[in-house]
Amino acid sequence: MLIIAGTGQGKTTLTARLVDYRKRNIVFGTKKADSTYQDFIDRGFKRVQSIDEISHFDKRVLLWPEYRTTIREFKLRQAHEFKRAFDWAAGLGSWTIWNDEELYMCRHLGLTDEVAWVLTQARSSGLTMINGSQRPAWIPLESYNGSTHAFLANSNEAADAKRLADLGAVNSKELIYNMQRLKRYEYVYVNTRTHAQPVIIKVDDERRSLRG
Ligand SMILES: Nc1ncnc2c1ncn2[C@@H]1O[C@H](COP(=O)(O)OP(=O)(O)OP(=O)(O)O)[C@@H](O)[C@H]1O
Ligand SMILES: [Mg+2]
Repeated sequence: MLIIAGTGQGKTTLTARLVDYRKRNIVFGTKKADSTYQDFIDRGFKRVQSIDEISHFDKRVLLWPEYRTTIREFKLRQAHEFKRAFDWAAGLGSWTIWNDEELYMCRHLGLTDEVAWVLTQARSSGLTMINGSQRPAWIPLESYNGSTHAFLANSNEAADAKRLADLGAVNSKELIYNMQRLKRYEYVYVNTRTHAQPVIIKVDDERRSLRG
């Protein structure tokens, strides 16, 4: 699954609403501070600094290393801990990885290989990965052809729209036309495997449920 929306468009809020559909969830928290991570904690997620704190019984984990001294030290530790988590999940299978900041994970932490590997090998390894990105750039191409479900928010950038044409099974002109008319927090939902008509959805932040 792929979610593409600019900053503050509700990606993390949307992903928090979807975790009930999966049995074993590991969310990668990359921000220094983000109030929407509280949504996961409210849903029973245990915050950990590294995979060493995960027990056999845990089903909801928020891997969110805390900021300590410097940006460089923070990024080095994040790269180390998230890489270990990708390797751990690849070995185990059966988990759903919520990679809410795919662009940051790939471009800033240098974990494109891990992300692309899970995207191509996931099905046979019993893994599921949900990617969120602020732009459809700097993320591996496998994000498009390896995703069954895509949620796309408003975008006016021609280059971004061109990238989205890589999503199979949809008329890209019609998709872009509809995307450009979306309001805040609205998404076009596309199933890339079926020829079903894309639909517009919006997360109801107050009632905390999905409207069709
Ligand atoms: N459907 C919604 N209705 C009302 N408010 C919303 C909705 N979705 C998100 N918000 C609010 O908008 C703010 C940003 O949401 P969120 O953090 O989920 O965005 P994001 O796309 O993950 O941002 P970023 O790219 O910076 O991580 C939050 O304060 C959240 O409560
Ligand atoms: Mg977010």
